[in-house]
Amino acid sequence: MELIGELNRLQQAQGHLRDEDLRDLSERLRVPLYRIEEVISFYPHFRTTPPPKAEVAVCRDLACYVNGGDEFCARVTKLLANDPEIEVREVSCLGRCEAAPAALIGDVPLGASPEDVAQAARQPGRRRSAGPSAARRDWRIDLYAGSELEPYAVLEAYRDRDEEEAAAEIIERLKASGLAGMGGAAFPAGLKWELVRKEAATPKYVICNADESEPGTFKDRVIMAELPHLVIEGMCLGALVCGADRGWIYIRHEYEPERQALQEAIDAARSAGVLGERFDIEIFVSPGGYILGEETALLEALEDRRGEPRNKPPYPGQSGLWGKPTLINNVETLAMAPAIVQHGPDWWKEQGTRGHHGLKFIGVSGHVERPGVFEIPMGTTVAELIELAGGVKDGRRLKGFAPGGASSNFLPAEAADVEIDFKSIAEAGSMLGSAALIVLDQDADMIAAATNVVRFFRNESCGKCVPCRVGTEKVVAMLEGTLAGDGNGALREALPDLEVTLAETSICGLGQVALNPITSALKYWGDEMEGEGRTAPVRRRVGK
Ligand SMILES: Cc1cc2nc3c(=O)[nH]c(=O)nc-3n(C[C@H](O)[C@H](O)[C@H](O)COP(=O)(O)O)c2cc1C
Ligand code: SF4
Ligand code: FES
Repeated sequence: MELIGELNRLQQAQGHLRDEDLRDLSERLRVPLYRIEEVISFYPHFRTTPPPKAEVAVCRDLACYVNGGDEFCARVTKLLANDPEIEVREVSCLGRCEAAPAALIGDVPLGASPEDVAQAARQPGRRRSAGPSAARRDWRIDLYAGSELEPYAVLEAYRDRDEEEAAAEIIERLKASGLAGMGGAAFPAGLKWELVRKEAATPKYVICNADESEPGTFKDRVIMAELPHLVIEGMCLGALVCGADRGWIYIRHEYEPERQALQEAIDAARSAGVLGERFDIEIFVSPGGYILGEETALLEALEDRRGEPRNKPPYPGQSGLWGKPTLINNVETLAMAPAIVQHGPDWWKEQGTRGHHGLKFIGVSGHVERPGVFEIPMGTTVAELIELAGGVKDGRRLKGFAPGGASSNFLPAEAADVEIDFKSIAEAGSMLGSAALIVLDQDADMIAAATNVVRFFRNESCGKCVPCRVGTEKVVAMLEGTLAGDGNGALREALPDLEVTLAETSICGLGQVALNPITSALKYWGDEMEGEGRTAPVRRRVGK
């Protein structure tokens, strides 16, 4: 944590990691230079050469791609071609999929025309984020909005009680509510808190996973910007239950406005005496990519190593940060805990519809009129959610959708009546995953869309397991050949074996699901491959 924190600070101060600073750092921390090099070379955020005058990062992933991202990037590049001091880079999902095609200049997110992006890149004053926007909506999980209760009232009430009794009641309420982990795996939150509580080793830690980097996924960003006090209170409740005295919010570096919102809320909580004495929270800015959201890769980064996932078991709850029991939860899981603990499991269950329980934050992007984050009753159908987002763009018909982010299987329009819930979506052949509904309209090229997603996994593979590293590369090469019109049937032949190999031999979820997009696209739209290959490259509309 110390090493990566120092590297972040040096890069922030000097623009890049200078040799002389690294030598000083090596002496100061007593860490050999080769170890520092090992860390720097893993993380894409670190640079060892001076930065350009301005850096424009343009997202190339699914929600942006289907909204004309390639053309957008080409246009921005062309507009800035005569300014050699401005660098335009294609990057993975920026977590601003509702603003597709999304761009970032320095710390400042932009969802604007190529001309506006190019103009902003030329203005030196436009590189530092001014913090989160002041606009905040009403959310049902915010138990303090319009109430006489002061923020952190739930925590304060439990802190004043007998510790054993308080922990038992919180665990009981979470378990009875059925709250599932919202980071993708849906592990029961109450059970996880109980397991960490039962661990004998001390000290214990709480980590909020705010890495959120899967294409289409941006719900946690909105929660952190608008409800940071709930995230902090959720962490405090977790710490009270588990007996932790330190906590970290692990946030991706592209979320600077949200980091500021969290820091302001942490400072306010310290001033109010909520944080500090018994439990305190720090923010750790991740220098990494998508893989750092995997909980053990995240731990490796916090321990100043390359962010490669660990073999499990042991799970972080038993042996996490520095080998100690560590409660790791997603932003949304933590933000939901205070309302459930306060209002009780029955209240939570009543928030759902059609027999499903609770509320869910979902990011909706792709071909919809009003992309954004929606807080819906569990059990709302995909078709209803698309309507909430203004319907399919330009009055077109729905062709297919990914219900749970890039790693979820695509489903066809006929499945849009599926009720949104972990179990129902799994029964329909996909998963709720990272709660990112990506909508594709009648003319979308599903093979091109699937290629885009497999390419994302190829780019983001940490490379630790050979099947994931080589397999994703192989499939992308075959898909690109197919898209270019020279497919020769090799992909269909190789895919079943590759899929089983990756699913069974990959250490982490990235490799295990990396081929889902293409296998599901072939299942429903296999005819679009046209037998031995496609006769014409990318025939159907993908972008705007
Ligand atoms: C490749 C990969 C990326 C992940 N990214 C995230 C992420 O960005 N945020 C998150 O909360 N969980 C992410 N997860 C899941 C975490 O490993 C972990 O299950 C989760 O943080 C636990 O919190 P929860 O129980 O509240 O869901 C990812 C998993 C994998 C395999
Ligand atoms: S499955 Fe892929 S991303 Fe996960 S540990 Fe293996 S190589 Fe890394
Ligand atoms: S910002 Fe482009 S896919 Fe998320």
